[in-house]
Amino acid sequence: MRNFLLDPTYQDAVYLFAAVLFIVGIRMLTSPETAPRGNFLSALAMLLAVGITLASGRIADFRWIALGVAVGAAIGILASQLVKMTAMPQMVALYNGLGGAASALVAVSEFLRQPGALDYFLTTVIMLSLFVGAVTLTGSLVAFAKLQELISGKPVAFPLQHPLNLVFLVAAVICGVLVVLDAEQLRLFAAVAALALVLGVLVVIPIGGADMPVVIALLNSYSGVAVSFTGFVLTNNVLIITGALVGASGLFLTNEMCKAMNRSIWNVLFGGFGLTESGAPAAGVAEIPGGGAVKPYTIEDAVTVLENSDSVIFVPGYGMAAARAQHQVRELGDALEQRGLDVKYAIHPVAGRMPGHMNVLLAEANVSYDLLKDMDEINKDFKMTDVALVIGANDVVNPAAHEDASSPIYGMPVLNAEQARTVMVLKRSMNPGFAGIENMLFYRDNTMMLFGDARSTLSKLVDSLSQD
Ligand code: TAP
Repeated sequence: MRNFLLDPTYQDAVYLFAAVLFIVGIRMLTSPETAPRGNFLSALAMLLAVGITLASGRIADFRWIALGVAVGAAIGILASQLVKMTAMPQMVALYNGLGGAASALVAVSEFLRQPGALDYFLTTVIMLSLFVGAVTLTGSLVAFAKLQELISGKPVAFPLQHPLNLVFLVAAVICGVLVVLDAEQLRLFAAVAALALVLGVLVVIPIGGADMPVVIALLNSYSGVAVSFTGFVLTNNVLIITGALVGASGLFLTNEMCKAMNRSIWNVLFGGFGLTESGAPAAGVAEIPGGGAVKPYTIEDAVTVLENSDSVIFVPGYGMAAARAQHQVRELGDALEQRGLDVKYAIHPVAGRMPGHMNVLLAEANVSYDLLKDMDEINKDFKMTDVALVIGANDVVNPAAHEDASSPIYGMPVLNAEQARTVMVLKRSMNPGFAGIENMLFYRDNTMMLFGDARSTLSKLVDSLSQD
């Protein structure tokens, strides 16, 4: 009997089916309700694609593959146990980088395997796979180091930065074209790899503060583009299709992040993000620039205000993730709803450290999706709301974004928390948020600062409310 698994037509049919499953899976990721099934379908598609590749009869030796699967699975299991939820954004940055590294390594091995025997098309896709993969690798490693706070998250600027990047880019293109014309130019091949690795660092290092979401989305897109080029190198349709899917969805995400920051991609990549002040006074009584002071309030003060309110909007931010306070947020929301208050949750598109960060955490705590409101939908409601409860959010509620033309985040759309009758802010100190800039919301007359770890403060609020 003919083994249909060895027939390239059947293999392509399975790849095509896997690609369709990927597309349906990605579509389902657009809603929190269908996302788990979307994830499952995409994983199934991956299993099919890997399974048919292994069964295709084109694998000469399974030993290296088995070793790779064993090492990869061990790292994956360890990472899933050890990496905290708050470290997921840096983990994603690292995965993007490793995707880029894999594409670059395939390009190197294919080039070294058959130098001189490559046609123009194959050499071109090898060079593109190498270049995009290497840029993605080092760019993602810098993003990882910034998010992990191994290096400062602030932009690193030096004179003639952009012209230098342009020189490196042009040099890489020239070397790449020369390799395409003469595929035995090993030194020029190595030069393209080196220039791309340096460019990855140089392109990401000047980006900092609030612009990081755009960079992470863009690097995600690059990793997809690199995989797609690798698909051409290996003439593997499923790699071409999935790489293109990741590349395109990453671009859409980049566009969404740019809209959320009200910045163009060129402005993010070449405009730099103004150097900002940091090291604001510690918790307690802080000086307001130009006089005045911010005073801490007690749990009892906050409970009194909540008991006399009809409506509350929760504004979660990175601090909620850091404190792992999402369950306490839901408990407080439930307690307030039981008392008859109108409760909603305001979600800023870049709150936290990765797209959808707040949605994922609140979904994990079983907060109803209907209560989660996007920024555009909820912003008009703050002025009719009694309490805006800000849980570890800072940059996304900074009124400087629409009030202070000299602020680096001026023009970025933010949640209008300051328009609520009372703003309660849960944070540990007067430290600034990720963008490193002062937030004058904390000094306003209608703002109550509740200093302390968000989880502990929320638990105390829930306890006090339930005792009444
Ligand atoms: P941030 O502006 O980063 O502020 C987080 C606040 O949480 C800090 O002020 C911190 O103050 C507080 N905090 C930390 N741990 C806490 C704890 N255990 N309990 C209570 N409070 C705690 O957060 P945001 O408003 O969500 O804004 C997100 C920022 O990250 C934006 O600048 C955004 O551009 C950037 N960013 C976003 C992404 C994506 S895609 N979402 C990716 C990279 C960067 P204390 O230290 O005083 O407690």
